[in-house]
Amino acid sequence: MKYFIQTFGCQMNDSDSNLMDASLSQAGYSRATAAEKADIIVVNTCCVRQTAENRAFGYIGSLKCLKEQKPHLIIAVCGCLVQKEGSLAGFLNRYRHVSLLLGTFAFARLPEYIEDYRSRGEVIIDVAEDYEAHPYSYLPALSPVNNYRSQISIILGCNNYCSYCIVPYVRGRERSRKPWQILEEAQALVRAGVKEVQLLGQNVNAYGKDIVDLNWDFARLLHELDKTAGIERIRYMTSHPRDFSLKLIETIAAAQHICHHFHLPLQSGCDKILSAMNRGYDTAYYAQLLENIRSHMPQATITSDLIVGFPGETEEDFQQTLDFLAVCQFDTAYTFLYSQRSGTPAATLPLQVAAEVKKERIQRLMSVQNHISLAQNQQLIGAKQEIMVEGASKNNPMRWSGRTRGNKIVVFDYKAGKNIQAGDLLMLRITAAQTWNLSGEII
Ligand code: SAH
Ligand code: SF4
Ligand code: F3S
Repeated sequence: MKYFIQTFGCQMNDSDSNLMDASLSQAGYSRATAAEKADIIVVNTCCVRQTAENRAFGYIGSLKCLKEQKPHLIIAVCGCLVQKEGSLAGFLNRYRHVSLLLGTFAFARLPEYIEDYRSRGEVIIDVAEDYEAHPYSYLPALSPVNNYRSQISIILGCNNYCSYCIVPYVRGRERSRKPWQILEEAQALVRAGVKEVQLLGQNVNAYGKDIVDLNWDFARLLHELDKTAGIERIRYMTSHPRDFSLKLIETIAAAQHICHHFHLPLQSGCDKILSAMNRGYDTAYYAQLLENIRSHMPQATITSDLIVGFPGETEEDFQQTLDFLAVCQFDTAYTFLYSQRSGTPAATLPLQVAAEVKKERIQRLMSVQNHISLAQNQQLIGAKQEIMVEGASKNNPMRWSGRTRGNKIVVFDYKAGKNIQAGDLLMLRITAAQTWNLSGEII
Protein backbone atom coordinates (compact mmCIF):
# COMPACT_ATOMS: atom_id res chain seq x y z
CA MET A 1 0.00 0.00 0.00
CA LYS A 2 1.16 3.50 -0.83
CA TYR A 3 0.86 6.69 1.22
CA PHE A 4 1.02 10.37 0.46
CA ILE A 5 1.55 13.10 3.07
CA GLN A 6 0.35 16.67 2.53
CA THR A 7 1.76 19.10 5.09
CA PHE A 8 0.50 22.57 6.01
CA GLY A 9 1.96 24.87 8.67
CA CYS A 10 5.31 25.45 10.29
CA GLN A 11 8.56 23.50 10.65
CA MET A 12 7.14 21.60 13.61
CA ASN A 13 4.58 20.11 11.27
CA ASP A 14 7.28 19.36 8.69
CA SER A 15 9.20 17.54 11.36
CA ASP A 16 6.11 15.62 12.54
CA SER A 17 5.39 14.69 8.91
CA ASN A 18 8.94 13.39 8.53
CA LEU A 19 8.38 11.22 11.56
CA MET A 20 5.11 9.86 10.13
CA ASP A 21 6.83 9.31 6.79
CA ALA A 22 9.58 7.28 8.45
CA SER A 23 7.20 5.31 10.64
CA LEU A 24 4.93 4.44 7.69
CA SER A 25 7.86 3.24 5.62
CA GLN A 26 9.16 1.24 8.58
CA ALA A 27 5.73 -0.34 8.82
CA GLY A 28 6.09 -1.55 5.24
CA TYR A 29 4.14 1.08 3.31
CA SER A 30 5.75 2.84 0.38
CA ARG A 31 5.65 6.47 -0.66
CA ALA A 32 3.35 7.53 -3.53
CA THR A 33 4.41 10.35 -5.82
CA ALA A 34 0.94 11.96 -5.80
CA ALA A 35 -2.25 11.87 -3.73
CA GLU A 36 -4.14 10.29 -6.65
CA LYS A 37 -1.81 7.29 -6.58
CA ALA A 38 -2.04 6.67 -2.84
CA ASP A 39 -4.09 4.24 -0.76
CA ILE A 40 -3.50 6.33 2.36
CA ILE A 41 -3.52 10.14 2.34
CA VAL A 42 -2.25 11.92 5.44
CA VAL A 43 -3.09 15.61 5.85
CA ASN A 44 -1.06 17.42 8.51
CA THR A 45 -2.95 20.59 9.35
CA CYS A 46 -2.28 24.06 10.79
CA CYS A 47 -4.66 26.52 12.47
CA VAL A 48 -2.39 29.42 13.43
CA ARG A 49 -4.41 31.79 11.22
CA GLN A 50 -7.78 31.52 9.51
CA THR A 51 -6.08 31.32 6.11
CA ALA A 52 -4.12 28.24 7.22
CA GLU A 53 -7.31 26.62 8.45
CA ASN A 54 -9.10 27.40 5.18
CA ARG A 55 -6.29 25.87 3.16
CA ALA A 56 -6.44 22.65 5.15
CA PHE A 57 -10.24 22.41 5.00
CA GLY A 58 -10.15 23.16 1.26
CA TYR A 59 -7.65 20.39 0.63
CA ILE A 60 -9.52 17.85 2.77
CA GLY A 61 -12.77 18.78 0.99
CA SER A 62 -11.12 18.21 -2.38
CA LEU A 63 -10.30 14.61 -1.41
CA LYS A 64 -13.98 13.69 -1.33
CA CYS A 65 -14.23 12.75 -5.00
CA LEU A 66 -11.08 10.68 -4.72
CA LYS A 67 -12.67 8.73 -1.88
CA GLU A 68 -15.82 8.23 -3.99
CA GLN A 69 -13.74 6.80 -6.83
CA LYS A 70 -11.66 4.65 -4.48
CA PRO A 71 -13.73 3.51 -1.49
CA HIS A 72 -10.76 1.70 0.09
CA LEU A 73 -8.84 5.01 0.35
CA ILE A 74 -7.83 5.87 3.91
CA ILE A 75 -7.73 9.58 4.73
CA ALA A 76 -5.96 10.51 7.96
CA VAL A 77 -6.16 14.09 9.18
CA CYS A 78 -3.77 15.10 11.93
CA GLY A 79 -2.02 18.13 13.36
CA CYS A 80 -3.04 21.33 15.10
CA LEU A 81 -6.44 21.83 13.49
CA VAL A 82 -7.61 18.41 14.72
CA GLN A 83 -6.42 19.25 18.23
CA LYS A 84 -8.23 22.60 18.22
CA GLU A 85 -11.17 22.70 20.58
CA GLY A 86 -14.49 22.37 18.80
CA SER A 87 -13.12 21.37 15.42
CA LEU A 88 -13.81 17.65 15.87
CA ALA A 89 -17.59 18.03 15.58
CA GLY A 90 -17.12 19.97 12.35
CA PHE A 91 -14.95 17.21 10.90
CA LEU A 92 -17.41 14.48 11.85
CA ASN A 93 -20.41 16.34 10.44
CA ARG A 94 -19.00 17.83 7.30
CA TYR A 95 -16.07 15.61 6.29
CA ARG A 96 -17.46 12.11 6.43
CA HIS A 97 -14.86 10.81 4.01
CA VAL A 98 -12.15 11.15 6.70
CA SER A 99 -11.08 7.85 8.32
CA LEU A 100 -8.71 8.95 11.11
CA LEU A 101 -8.51 12.12 13.19
CA LEU A 102 -5.29 12.29 15.20
CA GLY A 103 -4.21 15.23 17.33
CA THR A 104 -0.72 16.54 18.01
CA PHE A 105 -0.06 14.01 20.78
CA ALA A 106 -1.19 10.96 18.80
CA PHE A 107 0.24 11.32 15.29
CA ALA A 108 3.24 9.07 15.95
CA ARG A 109 0.91 6.11 16.41
CA LEU A 110 -0.42 6.50 12.87
CA PRO A 111 0.68 3.04 11.59
CA GLU A 112 -1.03 1.32 14.54
CA TYR A 113 -4.20 3.32 14.02
CA ILE A 114 -4.23 2.51 10.31
CA GLU A 115 -4.17 -1.20 11.19
CA ASP A 116 -7.06 -0.65 13.64
CA TYR A 117 -9.03 1.18 11.01
CA ARG A 118 -8.46 -1.52 8.44
CA SER A 119 -9.69 -4.21 10.79
CA ARG A 120 -12.64 -2.29 12.25
CA GLY A 121 -13.65 0.08 9.47
CA GLU A 122 -14.81 2.75 11.91
CA VAL A 123 -13.59 6.32 12.18
CA ILE A 124 -10.73 6.52 14.66
CA ILE A 125 -10.27 9.59 16.82
CA ASP A 126 -7.44 10.36 19.22
CA VAL A 127 -7.14 13.92 20.47
CA ALA A 128 -6.13 13.11 24.04
CA GLU A 129 -3.54 15.40 25.64
CA ASP A 130 -1.37 12.45 26.44
CA TYR A 131 1.80 13.71 28.10
CA GLU A 132 3.06 10.14 28.52
CA ALA A 133 3.20 9.71 24.75
CA HIS A 134 6.59 10.91 23.58
CA PRO A 135 6.36 10.97 19.81
CA TYR A 136 10.05 11.72 19.50
CA SER A 137 11.26 9.38 22.21
CA TYR A 138 12.38 6.50 20.05
CA LEU A 139 15.51 7.07 18.22
CA PRO A 140 16.16 5.10 15.04
CA ALA A 141 17.49 8.24 13.28
CA LEU A 142 14.00 8.39 12.04
CA SER A 143 14.03 11.21 9.55
CA PRO A 144 14.26 9.81 6.06
CA VAL A 145 17.72 11.11 5.40
CA ASN A 146 18.81 11.30 1.85
CA ASN A 147 19.45 14.93 2.43
CA TYR A 148 22.30 17.19 3.50
CA ARG A 149 20.03 19.09 5.86
CA SER A 150 17.78 17.76 8.60
CA GLN A 151 15.64 18.91 11.47
CA ILE A 152 15.67 17.79 15.08
CA SER A 153 12.73 18.60 17.33
CA ILE A 154 14.20 19.48 20.72
CA ILE A 155 11.22 20.83 22.61
CA LEU A 156 7.51 20.30 22.04
CA GLY A 157 4.68 22.61 23.09
CA CYS A 158 4.66 26.17 24.34
CA ASN A 159 4.01 27.78 27.75
CA ASN A 160 3.97 31.38 26.66
CA TYR A 161 0.33 32.11 25.97
CA CYS A 162 0.83 35.14 23.80
CA SER A 163 -2.71 36.48 23.85
CA TYR A 164 -3.33 36.10 20.09
CA CYS A 165 -1.86 32.62 19.66
CA ILE A 166 -3.53 29.22 19.45
CA VAL A 167 -0.33 27.17 19.59
CA PRO A 168 -0.21 26.52 23.39
CA TYR A 169 -3.78 25.20 23.20
CA VAL A 170 -3.12 22.79 20.37
CA ARG A 171 0.40 21.66 21.22
CA GLY A 172 0.27 21.52 25.00
CA ARG A 173 2.85 22.44 27.63
CA GLU A 174 6.58 22.49 26.99
CA ARG A 175 8.35 19.13 26.97
CA SER A 176 12.09 19.01 26.33
CA ARG A 177 13.57 15.90 24.81
CA LYS A 178 16.44 14.37 26.71
CA PRO A 179 19.79 15.89 25.71
CA TRP A 180 21.45 12.53 25.02
CA GLN A 181 18.62 11.60 22.63
CA ILE A 182 19.18 14.81 20.72
CA LEU A 183 22.95 14.35 20.59
CA GLU A 184 22.61 10.73 19.48
CA GLU A 185 20.13 11.72 16.82
CA ALA A 186 22.53 14.41 15.58
CA GLN A 187 25.34 11.85 15.36
CA ALA A 188 23.12 9.42 13.49
CA LEU A 189 22.16 12.15 11.04
CA VAL A 190 25.82 13.02 10.45
CA ARG A 191 26.56 9.35 9.74
CA ALA A 192 23.77 9.46 7.17
CA GLY A 193 25.40 12.40 5.42
CA VAL A 194 23.65 15.38 7.01
CA LYS A 195 25.76 18.54 7.20
CA GLU A 196 23.28 21.02 8.59
CA VAL A 197 20.92 20.46 11.50
CA GLN A 198 18.08 22.72 12.42
CA LEU A 199 16.85 22.51 16.01
CA LEU A 200 13.13 22.98 16.29
CA GLY A 201 10.69 24.16 18.91
CA GLN A 202 8.09 26.89 19.41
CA ASN A 203 10.49 28.44 21.88
CA VAL A 204 13.86 26.69 21.68
CA ASN A 205 15.46 28.84 24.35
CA ALA A 206 13.08 27.39 26.92
CA TYR A 207 14.93 24.11 26.34
CA GLY A 208 15.66 22.25 29.57
CA LYS A 209 13.46 24.38 31.84
CA ASP A 210 11.14 21.42 32.40
CA ILE A 211 13.98 18.99 33.16
CA VAL A 212 15.79 21.12 35.75
CA ASP A 213 17.25 18.12 37.56
CA LEU A 214 19.37 17.46 34.49
CA ASN A 215 20.81 20.97 34.48
CA TRP A 216 20.71 21.46 30.72
CA ASP A 217 19.74 24.63 28.94
CA PHE A 218 19.69 25.71 25.32
CA ALA A 219 23.16 27.27 25.49
CA ARG A 220 24.64 24.01 26.78
CA LEU A 221 22.85 21.99 24.12
CA LEU A 222 24.19 24.28 21.38
CA HIS A 223 27.68 24.11 22.83
CA GLU A 224 27.63 20.29 22.83
CA LEU A 225 26.27 20.08 19.30
CA ASP A 226 28.89 22.53 18.12
CA LYS A 227 31.53 19.99 19.19
CA THR A 228 29.84 17.11 17.32
CA ALA A 229 32.19 16.14 14.51
CA GLY A 230 30.74 16.45 11.03
CA ILE A 231 28.09 19.09 11.64
CA GLU A 232 28.96 22.05 9.45
CA ARG A 233 26.05 24.27 10.33
CA ILE A 234 23.60 24.50 13.20
CA ARG A 235 20.40 26.55 13.02
CA TYR A 236 17.44 26.80 15.39
CA MET A 237 13.85 28.03 15.21
CA THR A 238 12.16 29.82 16.98
CA SER A 239 13.65 31.72 19.86
CA HIS A 240 11.67 34.07 22.05
CA PRO A 241 13.32 37.49 22.52
CA ARG A 242 12.43 37.49 26.23
CA ASP A 243 14.52 34.37 26.87
CA PHE A 244 17.53 35.28 24.73
CA SER A 245 20.20 35.58 27.41
CA LEU A 246 23.63 37.16 27.18
CA LYS A 247 25.09 33.74 27.95
CA LEU A 248 23.36 32.39 24.84
CA ILE A 249 24.73 35.24 22.71
CA GLU A 250 28.23 34.59 24.03
CA THR A 251 27.90 30.85 23.38
CA ILE A 252 26.86 31.45 19.79
CA ALA A 253 29.57 34.05 19.19
CA ALA A 254 32.27 31.68 20.49
CA ALA A 255 31.02 28.61 18.61
CA GLN A 256 32.30 27.41 15.25
CA HIS A 257 29.26 25.98 13.54
CA ILE A 258 26.27 27.87 14.91
CA CYS A 259 24.96 30.16 12.20
CA HIS A 260 24.78 33.85 13.03
CA HIS A 261 21.16 34.09 12.02
CA PHE A 262 18.78 35.33 14.69
CA HIS A 263 15.08 34.99 14.08
CA LEU A 264 13.51 37.04 16.87
CA PRO A 265 9.79 37.60 16.41
CA LEU A 266 9.07 41.17 17.50
CA GLN A 267 5.30 41.12 16.69
CA SER A 268 4.84 44.86 17.34
CA GLY A 269 6.96 47.96 17.85
CA CYS A 270 4.45 49.55 20.23
CA ASP A 271 4.83 48.93 23.97
CA LYS A 272 1.10 49.13 24.66
CA ILE A 273 0.40 46.42 22.09
CA LEU A 274 3.35 44.25 23.20
CA SER A 275 1.95 44.29 26.70
CA ALA A 276 -1.56 43.41 25.47
CA MET A 277 0.02 40.58 23.48
CA ASN A 278 1.63 39.25 26.68
CA ARG A 279 5.03 39.11 25.03
CA GLY A 280 7.01 39.82 28.18
CA TYR A 281 9.35 42.51 26.76
CA ASP A 282 9.15 46.10 25.56
CA THR A 283 10.85 47.90 22.69
CA ALA A 284 13.70 49.22 24.89
CA TYR A 285 14.56 45.64 25.94
CA TYR A 286 14.31 44.43 22.34
CA ALA A 287 16.55 47.22 20.99
CA GLN A 288 19.13 46.39 23.68
CA LEU A 289 18.99 42.70 22.72
CA LEU A 290 19.75 43.54 19.08
CA GLU A 291 22.60 45.76 20.21
CA ASN A 292 24.06 42.96 22.32
CA ILE A 293 23.89 40.58 19.36
CA ARG A 294 25.41 43.05 16.93
CA SER A 295 28.18 44.08 19.29
CA HIS A 296 29.25 40.42 19.54
CA MET A 297 28.55 39.54 15.90
CA PRO A 298 28.49 42.65 13.69
CA GLN A 299 27.61 40.60 10.57
CA ALA A 300 24.66 38.78 12.16
CA THR A 301 21.49 38.39 10.10
CA ILE A 302 18.44 39.37 12.13
CA THR A 303 14.93 38.52 10.97
CA SER A 304 11.54 38.86 12.59
CA ASP A 305 7.77 38.29 12.55
CA LEU A 306 5.26 41.13 12.80
CA ILE A 307 1.52 41.15 13.28
CA VAL A 308 -0.60 44.09 12.11
CA GLY A 309 -4.07 44.91 13.39
CA PHE A 310 -3.94 43.37 16.85
CA PRO A 311 -7.14 44.46 18.68
CA GLY A 312 -6.85 48.06 19.86
CA GLU A 313 -3.96 48.94 17.51
CA THR A 314 -4.49 52.58 16.54
CA GLU A 315 -2.86 54.47 13.68
CA GLU A 316 -0.35 55.95 16.18
CA ASP A 317 0.46 52.50 17.58
CA PHE A 318 1.05 51.24 14.08
CA GLN A 319 3.21 54.27 13.30
CA GLN A 320 5.39 53.33 16.28
CA THR A 321 5.94 49.91 14.71
CA LEU A 322 6.97 51.55 11.42
CA ASP A 323 9.39 53.83 13.27
CA PHE A 324 10.83 50.95 15.26
CA LEU A 325 11.65 49.07 12.05
CA ALA A 326 14.20 51.77 11.29
CA VAL A 327 15.84 51.09 14.66
CA CYS A 328 15.87 47.30 14.21
CA GLN A 329 17.18 47.16 10.63
CA PHE A 330 15.91 43.63 10.08
CA ASP A 331 17.24 41.69 7.12
CA THR A 332 13.72 40.41 6.51
CA ALA A 333 10.46 40.31 8.41
CA TYR A 334 7.47 38.05 7.88
CA THR A 335 4.30 40.09 8.20
CA PHE A 336 0.90 38.73 9.18
CA LEU A 337 -2.61 40.12 9.41
CA TYR A 338 -3.92 39.53 12.91
CA SER A 339 -6.33 36.58 12.79
CA GLN A 340 -8.91 36.08 15.52
CA ARG A 341 -8.43 32.60 17.04
CA SER A 342 -11.35 31.44 19.14
CA GLY A 343 -10.32 30.38 22.61
CA THR A 344 -7.44 32.89 22.83
CA PRO A 345 -7.78 35.96 25.08
CA ALA A 346 -7.29 38.45 22.23
CA ALA A 347 -10.25 37.04 20.29
CA THR A 348 -12.74 38.56 22.72
CA LEU A 349 -11.02 41.94 23.12
CA PRO A 350 -13.05 44.96 22.04
CA LEU A 351 -11.77 47.20 19.22
CA GLN A 352 -11.04 44.50 16.68
CA VAL A 353 -9.41 46.21 13.70
CA ALA A 354 -11.33 46.24 10.42
CA ALA A 355 -10.04 44.03 7.61
CA GLU A 356 -9.46 46.97 5.20
CA VAL A 357 -7.41 48.81 7.82
CA LYS A 358 -5.27 45.74 8.42
CA LYS A 359 -4.69 45.26 4.71
CA GLU A 360 -3.72 48.87 4.22
CA ARG A 361 -1.31 48.71 7.18
CA ILE A 362 0.39 45.53 6.05
CA GLN A 363 1.10 47.12 2.65
CA ARG A 364 2.79 50.09 4.32
CA LEU A 365 4.70 47.82 6.67
CA MET A 366 5.97 45.63 3.83
CA SER A 367 7.00 48.63 1.80
CA VAL A 368 9.08 50.10 4.67
CA GLN A 369 10.65 46.71 5.44
CA ASN A 370 11.42 45.95 1.79
CA HIS A 371 13.51 49.11 1.53
CA ILE A 372 15.42 48.11 4.66
CA SER A 373 15.90 44.54 3.39
CA LEU A 374 17.33 45.78 0.11
CA ALA A 375 19.69 48.20 1.87
CA GLN A 376 20.85 45.41 4.22
CA ASN A 377 21.54 43.12 1.28
CA GLN A 378 23.36 45.85 -0.64
CA GLN A 379 25.85 46.15 2.22
CA LEU A 380 27.05 42.67 1.31
CA ILE A 381 28.06 43.55 -2.25
CA GLY A 382 31.76 42.80 -2.66
CA ALA A 383 31.89 40.64 0.47
CA LYS A 384 33.10 37.03 0.57
CA GLN A 385 30.46 34.63 1.82
CA GLU A 386 30.49 30.90 2.47
CA ILE A 387 27.40 29.23 1.04
CA MET A 388 25.98 25.76 1.36
CA VAL A 389 24.85 24.69 -2.10
CA GLU A 390 21.12 23.91 -2.40
CA GLY A 391 20.88 22.91 -6.05
CA ALA A 392 20.40 24.02 -9.61
CA SER A 393 17.53 26.22 -10.67
CA LYS A 394 14.69 24.21 -12.19
CA ASN A 395 14.47 26.47 -15.22
CA ASN A 396 18.15 26.97 -15.86
CA PRO A 397 20.65 24.25 -14.88
CA MET A 398 23.50 26.76 -15.26
CA ARG A 399 22.08 28.86 -12.39
CA TRP A 400 22.64 27.42 -8.94
CA SER A 401 21.66 28.67 -5.51
CA GLY A 402 22.92 28.29 -1.97
CA ARG A 403 22.50 29.82 1.44
CA THR A 404 24.93 31.93 3.45
CA ARG A 405 25.53 31.29 7.14
CA GLY A 406 23.22 34.24 7.69
CA ASN A 407 20.51 32.31 5.81
CA LYS A 408 20.48 34.53 2.71
CA ILE A 409 19.92 32.92 -0.66
CA VAL A 410 22.65 33.53 -3.24
CA VAL A 411 22.21 32.71 -6.91
CA PHE A 412 25.35 32.03 -8.94
CA ASP A 413 26.50 30.71 -12.32
CA TYR A 414 27.76 27.18 -12.53
CA LYS A 415 31.39 27.11 -13.68
CA ALA A 416 32.09 24.48 -16.30
CA GLY A 417 34.35 21.75 -14.96
CA LYS A 418 33.43 22.45 -11.36
CA ASN A 419 31.88 19.40 -9.76
CA ILE A 420 29.32 20.63 -7.22
CA GLN A 421 26.35 19.12 -5.48
CA ALA A 422 23.78 20.04 -2.86
CA GLY A 423 25.37 20.29 0.57
CA ASP A 424 28.80 21.44 -0.64
CA LEU A 425 30.35 24.51 0.95
CA LEU A 426 31.63 27.11 -1.52
CA MET A 427 33.16 30.56 -1.22
CA LEU A 428 31.42 33.21 -3.29
CA ARG A 429 31.87 36.90 -3.84
CA ILE A 430 28.61 38.82 -3.71
CA THR A 431 28.09 40.80 -6.91
CA ALA A 432 24.54 42.14 -6.65
CA ALA A 433 21.69 42.45 -4.19
CA GLN A 434 17.92 42.27 -4.49
CA THR A 435 15.25 42.53 -1.77
CA TRP A 436 14.91 38.77 -1.29
CA ASN A 437 18.24 37.37 -2.45
CA LEU A 438 21.80 38.00 -3.55
CA SER A 439 23.82 37.19 -6.65
CA GLY A 440 27.39 35.98 -6.46
CA GLU A 441 30.28 34.35 -8.29
CA ILE A 442 32.46 31.43 -7.30
CA ILE A 443 35.88 32.58 -6.09
N1 SAH B 1 6.70 30.06 18.48
C1 SAH B 1 7.01 30.87 17.39
C2 SAH B 1 6.10 30.72 16.19
C3 SAH B 1 4.68 31.02 16.38
S1 SAH B 1 3.68 31.00 14.95
C4 SAH B 1 7.11 32.27 17.90
O1 SAH B 1 6.78 32.58 19.00
O2 SAH B 1 7.57 33.10 17.14
C5 SAH B 1 4.60 32.05 13.84
C6 SAH B 1 4.12 33.45 13.77
O3 SAH B 1 2.75 33.49 13.45
C7 SAH B 1 4.22 34.24 15.06
O4 SAH B 1 5.50 34.72 15.29
C8 SAH B 1 3.24 35.34 14.82
O5 SAH B 1 3.85 36.44 14.18
C9 SAH B 1 2.23 34.73 13.87
N2 SAH B 1 0.93 34.51 14.52
C10 SAH B 1 0.65 33.70 15.55
N3 SAH B 1 -0.66 33.78 15.87
C11 SAH B 1 -1.21 34.68 15.02
C12 SAH B 1 -2.52 35.22 14.85
N4 SAH B 1 -3.53 34.86 15.65
N5 SAH B 1 -2.71 36.12 13.85
C13 SAH B 1 -1.69 36.50 13.06
N6 SAH B 1 -0.45 36.04 13.19
C14 SAH B 1 -0.19 35.15 14.15
FE1 SF4 C 1 2.52 31.34 20.08
FE2 SF4 C 1 3.78 33.01 21.66
FE3 SF4 C 1 4.13 30.38 21.95
FE4 SF4 C 1 5.12 31.63 19.83
S1 SF4 C 1 5.73 31.99 21.95
S2 SF4 C 1 3.98 29.71 19.84
S3 SF4 C 1 3.61 33.21 19.40
S4 SF4 C 1 2.25 31.52 22.33
FE1 F3S D 1 0.43 25.92 12.63
FE2 F3S D 1 0.58 24.21 14.56
FE3 F3S D 1 2.77 25.21 13.52
S1 F3S D 1 -0.90 25.84 14.41
S2 F3S D 1 2.15 27.24 12.89
S3 F3S D 1 1.35 23.92 12.48
S4 F3S D 1 2.41 24.75 15.65
